[in-house]
Amino acid sequence: MRFDIITLFPEMFAPFLASGVTRRAYASDQVAVRLWNPRDYAQGNYRRVDDRPFGGGPGMVMLVEPLQACLDAIRADRAEDPATQVPLVLFSPIGKTLDHPAVEQWAQSPGAVLLCGRYEGIDQRFIDTHVDAQISLGDFVLSGGEIAALALLDAVTRLQPGVLNDAGSHQLDSFNPSLDGLLDCPHYTRPEVWQGQEVPPVLMSGHHAQIERWRRDQSLQITARHRPELLAKARAAGRLDRKDEAVLAKIADGL
Ligand SMILES: C[S@@+](CC[C@H](N)C(=O)[O-])C[C@H]1O[C@@H](n2cnc3c(N)ncnc32)[C@H](O)[C@@H]1O
Repeated sequence: MRFDIITLFPEMFAPFLASGVTRRAYASDQVAVRLWNPRDYAQGNYRRVDDRPFGGGPGMVMLVEPLQACLDAIRADRAEDPATQVPLVLFSPIGKTLDHPAVEQWAQSPGAVLLCGRYEGIDQRFIDTHVDAQISLGDFVLSGGEIAALALLDAVTRLQPGVLNDAGSHQLDSFNPSLDGLLDCPHYTRPEVWQGQEVPPVLMSGHHAQIERWRRDQSLQITARHRPELLAKARAAGRLDRKDEAVLAKIADGL
């Protein structure tokens, strides 16, 4: 899997690629990341990558020529057969909001070229010509697409085999089909009592079946309270059993 990232700020990626549980995947190229700066492909002494918008108005727009030259270099470096080339993804508020099913799909893909916009955005002609998909991080505006690219990279990389220290741990994370798409349960560690607050006794019992049931009940409760639509999805998919429904009925009754 390889991600080629087009960014005017490649330095934003170095600390991220060298940190945390995912760093080995990047260092070993299990998830290969290549950074490409359009400025390196810009013409003239000033290596301009942006200009004022036609029609007036505030801000600058990313120039199409440096982006085209940069993309040509990426395609040549990947030595891609045009029939099998990876998609070009633009991070943009226009895109579909990134979610777990999309991350799972990207995690099984050969990768992509990721385009990080800056300023007011990118000359629309480049988008119309090359962009295959647009991804948003949510209904708010970032200064650039880099943070969105980092979010996608991180979410995809932690799903790769062997990346997490504990092999099955991502399966118990929120939104995961193994957890029926519900939210995760609360977690506790030492000390057993902190500022008068005790760890739930069942977690200290050593009784695995009861612990598992408690965690499931907590997930149901948290999902019902914070994301009821996820619960509806799990129910529609037939993922809630009779015990789950009994717990939910009690929650609904305020018990
Ligand atoms: C300042 S923003 C441009 C915002 C644009 N003028 C608009 O109002 O939609 C600069 C760049 O940040 C990125 N960006 C901003 N918000 C984003 C979001 N919610 N999700 C993903 N990328 C975003 C895009 O690549 C965008 O081109």
